[in-house]
Amino acid sequence: MIYLDNAATSWPKPESVYDAIVDCMKNKGGNPGRSGHKFSISAAQILDRARFSLAKLFHIRDPKQLVFCFNTTDALNLGINGVLASGDHVITSSMEHNSVTRPLEHQALKGVKYTKIHMDPVKGIDIEELKRSITPKTKLVAITHSSNVTGTMNPIKEIGEICKNENIIFLVDAAQTAGCVPIDVYEMGIDLLAFPGHKGLLGPLGTGCLYINEGLALEPARYGGTGIYSEMKMQPDELPFRYESGTQNAPGLAGLHAGVSYILDKTVESVCEQEQKLTGILMKELSAIKDVTVYGYPSEGPRTSAVSFNIKNMNCTEVAMILDTSFDIAVRAGLHCAPDAHITLGTMKVGGTIRVSSGVFTTEDDIMKLVSAIKEILSDS
Ligand code: ALA
Repeated sequence: MIYLDNAATSWPKPESVYDAIVDCMKNKGGNPGRSGHKFSISAAQILDRARFSLAKLFHIRDPKQLVFCFNTTDALNLGINGVLASGDHVITSSMEHNSVTRPLEHQALKGVKYTKIHMDPVKGIDIEELKRSITPKTKLVAITHSSNVTGTMNPIKEIGEICKNENIIFLVDAAQTAGCVPIDVYEMGIDLLAFPGHKGLLGPLGTGCLYINEGLALEPARYGGTGIYSEMKMQPDELPFRYESGTQNAPGLAGLHAGVSYILDKTVESVCEQEQKLTGILMKELSAIKDVTVYGYPSEGPRTSAVSFNIKNMNCTEVAMILDTSFDIAVRAGLHCAPDAHITLGTMKVGGTIRVSSGVFTTEDDIMKLVSAIKEILSDS
């Protein structure tokens, strides 16, 4: 199979990721942080190592500020619901994933107000519009680093500076950028960074994380056993325990640590360069085909690997199905859980787009086979 659905989850993973998961399950199978025996201690060390390697990747001083979650959605829910209260105002963009817009809609039922500023599919959000939208009640700016539909980037560092000057909490959805684009939480002024373990970081499904800036106290998303401070009636304040109730996914985090180590060795800069080069080739080839419309940033450049397009008079889901069944090429079609992005692009009325997303193991040959398949589908239609 030619796998071009890395924006949904990366595949394949490095061999070291599979090995680490199996090793954890077979040889380090205790409950992390709960018991004093060797098996439990070695499982706890897996969590420590994963936290440490993630801290290194994002230049975070204290690994305890990283809280393990199930996925980016889980991390975004903790970040958004954890800081907001009735009367607060939030600024977000017009190209967010439902994992940002749905929590905000639910917060709106509780008296939170939010403003969606326009995110241009080529240029990202306009900083001046962001500044104009700030009110004395603006508590949070929640914005994607890069669109999961078009790969368009937002000017995170500039947004971070504004938030810092205005004393606004800055939450970044790094679902598409963690492991693919360099991120420094201090340099970019990020207070909350939500990211998946299973996409650009090459870990298994069911892993994700929220970085919480020092001194920022959130309401936990869940309460329960922390393996420490058990005598306390209430949830402890100390991180990461405050937000990590219940048994953690040690095999998943063993895999995530191996994935992050792979990226650290390869360097995020080289992953970024490789993905931008392949995406540039794909954009150029697709744009040259008559009856194909490509959306978003037009060429190689500051972007992530998600490329959206449509074929005139063909349903996007049908094209994805033909690619799968006749060409053994995996892509994702439809709304990509981001209806606002499709409203912004004008593709809502046609049911979305076909999305191709390369990853660290994608080759130029894979891209050219996809392009040939599209040409063949068009010639048969
Ligand atoms: N949010 C993921 C995607 O864009 C699953 O496909």
